[in-house]
Amino acid sequence: MKFYVLTLFPDMILRGLNTSILGRAAEKKIISIDAVNIRDYTADRHGKADDYPYGGGAGMLIQAQPVYDAHKAVTGGRKLRTIYVTPQGVPFTQKIAQELSRLEELVFLCGHYEGIDQRVLEEVATDYISIGDYVLTGGELPAMVMIDAISRLVPGVLHNDSSSESESFFNDLLEYPQYSRPRVWHGREVPAVLLLGDHKKIAEWRRERSEELTKSRRPDLYKEYIRKEELIRWLSREKREKIHMIESLRRGKAEILYADRGNVLLYDRTSRLCMISAQNAETGERLLEKVPKDASLFVTSQDFLNEPICNRFSCEIFHECIQVCYPQKQALPVKYKDIRLLGEEFIPYVRERYHMGDSEYVAERIRAGAMYGAFCDEKPVGFIGIHNDGSLGMLFVEETHRRKGLGISLESYAINRICEKGWTPYGHVVTGNETSLGLQERLGLYPSSGTIWWLGKKD
Ligand code: ADE
Repeated sequence: MKFYVLTLFPDMILRGLNTSILGRAAEKKIISIDAVNIRDYTADRHGKADDYPYGGGAGMLIQAQPVYDAHKAVTGGRKLRTIYVTPQGVPFTQKIAQELSRLEELVFLCGHYEGIDQRVLEEVATDYISIGDYVLTGGELPAMVMIDAISRLVPGVLHNDSSSESESFFNDLLEYPQYSRPRVWHGREVPAVLLLGDHKKIAEWRRERSEELTKSRRPDLYKEYIRKEELIRWLSREKREKIHMIESLRRGKAEILYADRGNVLLYDRTSRLCMISAQNAETGERLLEKVPKDASLFVTSQDFLNEPICNRFSCEIFHECIQVCYPQKQALPVKYKDIRLLGEEFIPYVRERYHMGDSEYVAERIRAGAMYGAFCDEKPVGFIGIHNDGSLGMLFVEETHRRKGLGISLESYAINRICEKGWTPYGHVVTGNETSLGLQERLGLYPSSGTIWWLGKKD
C-alpha cells in the first residue's frame, strides 16, 4: 500500500515512521511512505506557502496553489482518496482503519499553523478525519497515527499471516489482560485458568475479563456491545435465514443502522452492502429512508423490498439465493493435502478464472488473506475464497482436476479456517443450482428454507 503525505514537515513524517514494524514493512516493500513537501510546489518567488487569513485572526494559512499543485503531482490527475486531517473531521476508528487498509494508494493532507485555504480542500479532500477532541499544532502526528493503525492491517505487515479480518473478533470489547513469565511476581500470581491449557476455558475467561473491563472503562462501547448481542440473539431465532446478518455482526463487519425486532437494517461500510429485513412493506419503506447514500449492494430477506429498492436506488436483482451454513464446530477432513493461502503472485491466475465483480476484487481478496489455492506439482489447480461480505465462494477447479473431490477438499479447508476463528461458515447458492446445493449438503451445511435476494446498481 502506498501512502503519500502532503506536509510542510516531511522529515517529521519520515523519521516517525521508518523504525520498527513499519520500517521493516517499508524495506520489504509491503508499504511505502512518500512525504511530499508542499513548499516545493509554491509559485512564490521567496518559497512562501502560507499567508494571513482574510477577515483577520491569529496565525497563518497554507495557501491553495501549492497544495493543489503538490496534490496534482502525486495523483497525476487520478481520483485518489485524500484525507484532510483536522480536528473538525469525523473521529478515526478501527472500522475506518480497516476500510482504508484495503486501498492501494492513500493521500494525507496535513495542515499546520491555522489550517489550509478552504477552496483547495473542496477540490482535493475526499474525507475529513480527526484523531480526537483536542487540538495539536499540526496534522503530521495525526497522519502518522492513522498510517500506523492502517498499515498494521495490511496483509504481511504483522508476522501472523492470518487476515486482519480476524481481528474483529474482539472488536467491540477492550482486550483482556495478558501475563508472561514469571508465574509469581511481587507476590501476584498469573490467573490459574491460563496455566491449564484448556482453550475453551481460556477463551471464556478472556471474554469475561473483556466484558468487565469494557463495562467499567468504556460504558459507551459496552452499551453498543450489549445492543449487538441482543440483536444477534433475536436473529438467531431464524439462524439459517439470517446467518448473513448474524455473521456480519459477529465479525465486526456491519453496523446496526436500525433494529427493532423484525425490522433490521445493517450496513457493511467496507463492501457498501446493506442487509435489510422488514416485517411488512410499510416498515420496509421506512428502513429504506435510512440507507446510506454510498450503498451499492443490497441483500433483502423479503420479496416485497425488491421493487422499492430497484426504483429508489436504480438497482436490479442480481440473484435469488438460499443460504447454507455449517453450525458444527468440528473440523472437516481434507483429503487433498497441498492447499494453502494464496499470495499476491497468484492475482493474475485467479483473475483469469474468476470473472464476477471488477478485476480489483480478486486482488483485494487475495491481499486480505481470504483466498486459498490447491496445488499440484507446485502449480495451482483450483481455488476458493471468502467474499468481502464474509460468505464462502469463488470456488474453481481446473478442468483436468475435476470429479476427484478437489472442490470438496477446498471447501472443507476454507470451512476449517473460518471455524478456527470462532465464526460460523456460510455461503449462498443460487436458487435452482441443485449441483452446488448437493455439494453443500454433503459437506454438512444446512440450507435455509427462505430465500434472500442480491440487488445492485445497474451498470
Ligand atoms: N490537527 C490538529 N489537531 C488534530 C486532531 N486532533 N486530529 C486531526 N488533525 C489535527
